[in-house]
Amino acid sequence: MTPARPVRWCLLIALLAVPVRAATLKDAFTGAFRVGAALNAAQFSGEAPETALAVQQFNTISPENALKWGPVHPSPGRFRFDGADRYVAFGEAHGMWIVGHTLVWHRQTPAWVFESSPGHPADRETLLARLRDHIHTVVGRYRGRIRGWDVVNEALAEDGSLRQTPWLAIIGEDYISKAFEFAHEADPAAELYYNDYNLEYPEKRAGALRLLAHLKAQGVPVRAVGLQGHVRLATPTAAAVGDTIDAFAALGLRVNVSELDVDVLPPAHEGDAARPGLDPYPGGPPPEVQRALTARYAALFATFVAHRAALDRVTFWGVTDAASWLNGWPVPGRTNHPLLFDRSGRPKPAFDAVLHTAPR
Ligand code: XIL
Repeated sequence: MTPARPVRWCLLIALLAVPVRAATLKDAFTGAFRVGAALNAAQFSGEAPETALAVQQFNTISPENALKWGPVHPSPGRFRFDGADRYVAFGEAHGMWIVGHTLVWHRQTPAWVFESSPGHPADRETLLARLRDHIHTVVGRYRGRIRGWDVVNEALAEDGSLRQTPWLAIIGEDYISKAFEFAHEADPAAELYYNDYNLEYPEKRAGALRLLAHLKAQGVPVRAVGLQGHVRLATPTAAAVGDTIDAFAALGLRVNVSELDVDVLPPAHEGDAARPGLDPYPGGPPPEVQRALTARYAALFATFVAHRAALDRVTFWGVTDAASWLNGWPVPGRTNHPLLFDRSGRPKPAFDAVLHTAPR
């Protein structure tokens, strides 16, 4: 035996003993954009198996439900901040960029908000006063701590016109600019966003570009557009995603990918009855679906990296498949596989593929 051999063995053993630094999303994309996840109450309260994974992988968080009008302001004059306080404390404890979601939406908003008495619509001045009070109270409470807000969520219809909602019907078109003004008054340093889905499709994108150009021309303090990113395996194409980022950047806006996930199940609609054909992979995705998901995430992240000069953040809508909202929407009780971590929190091949797209 030559003297060199034991030295080599020692070196090998020493190398194996050194813990390999965990590859994480937040480290991989540092310098490009933040990477985040939406957390539910169990996760930000530290009671869920995914909490440690979220802390390890992400440097920004969004509240899946905790800051929506319903949970925070369930009845007139009554605010409930216990969940939201824990959410913000969790983000601060882990040095994360904390996002607020959302101030104005047509869903998860109690009926009383739009009524003067049960069954009778409120008038414009009443609803504007409620909106101002809500935004001042919620944004003001977390001033300087929640760094960016999805101020208005999903205000557009698929044809690019303004969605018909009680906000529009009662206040009129300026409910959008008013919401941004109120949020800016409550925290002048907070970043303010317009957030929506399907903006990669031409008609809705054109409507969003019109809306945002109009807001900017009026001097409304909107910093970024949030592309939710609830996508499917094949649509919208990564090229359409890239073109959409370019189109908003050309208006002088920053872009957030705010709610990314990839629905791998057959298309369904709200109200469809659950049936086996709509839930084909209860035991896990077959290899061809796993491969398609890997290729899809690789293509999306290659696009994000190519457009990183315009992107501030890429946030997944959930941590692992176990608690994804897509198990329950649009049809309850399905088994979807939309995220980078499986039900046990194990990284999928898509996770490695995403890490490989990171700029070196
Ligand atoms: C979803 C949550 O994930 C669910 O838990 C809740 O039941 C419904 O809302 N677009 C949005 C998010 O802006 O707020 C939605 O979150 C998903 C679609």
